[in-house]
Amino acid sequence: MRLDKFLAESGIAGRRKVRALIQSGKVTVNQVIVTEPAMMIRKEDVVEYEGERITYQEKRYYMFHKPSGCVTARSDEVHKTVMDYFREEPKGIFPVGRLDKDTEGLLFLTNDGEFDYAMMNPTKHVEKRYFFWALGQMDEETRKQIETGVEIGDGDLFTKPAKLEITESGDLAMYQEKLKGLTLRPYNQGAYNRKLIGGYLTICEGKKHQVKRMLKAHGCYVLYLKRVAIGDIELDPQLNKGEHRELTAKEIDILMNRNEKQD
Ligand code: URA
Repeated sequence: MRLDKFLAESGIAGRRKVRALIQSGKVTVNQVIVTEPAMMIRKEDVVEYEGERITYQEKRYYMFHKPSGCVTARSDEVHKTVMDYFREEPKGIFPVGRLDKDTEGLLFLTNDGEFDYAMMNPTKHVEKRYFFWALGQMDEETRKQIETGVEIGDGDLFTKPAKLEITESGDLAMYQEKLKGLTLRPYNQGAYNRKLIGGYLTICEGKKHQVKRMLKAHGCYVLYLKRVAIGDIELDPQLNKGEHRELTAKEIDILMNRNEKQD
């Protein structure tokens, strides 16, 4: 691997800055100052920057189909975590953002802090698309209000513009077949009028329980929630719940370049 790539991917700095650092004589390979960024290095070479040994961290990116019932945390004393599904993978990877314990669907994991920032920082406006089933009803006016902004806090916490598509609406009884096999959130069967809606809510922020709170603000109780896409990347239908695969170079490129355009 090229020396500049090695240093950039190890998190020293971006490629351009790394080249300048090498050219200014701050990097040694096997204790010899090297000023050629394109120099090829081998696994056994000892690379030091300002006297400190640099260990290569190969960047890894995963797409995970999170099942309901595990928490999005690096560790937890009580619950199973998403990391329990990654025991075979290299250390140092972490979940990008979080899904509630009872939410299913697309979750990225990585050891790349820049990728995490690009996906999660609110200034990057990365859209997250959720499929939901919720008890309740919704008219067109309410749907539009939710898209414009909903107060979900105790005071002035308004959500940013969102996209809400209602694809199903009717009596709960009509949907028994479609709900069969899904892990539903607990609900008081007498408390609602037993109408059901289903659809997609796309948001570009990540406030705690945001989808549930947005729908709740207008009297709808989420029974089932699944994240189906982040940016332009959809959950791979080949992945069963609890399974993961590496993101392809093309997917990483789509996600990262999309954000560069937003900056
Ligand atoms: N919104 C929620 O309410 N829960 C999630 O897990 C993600 C978004």
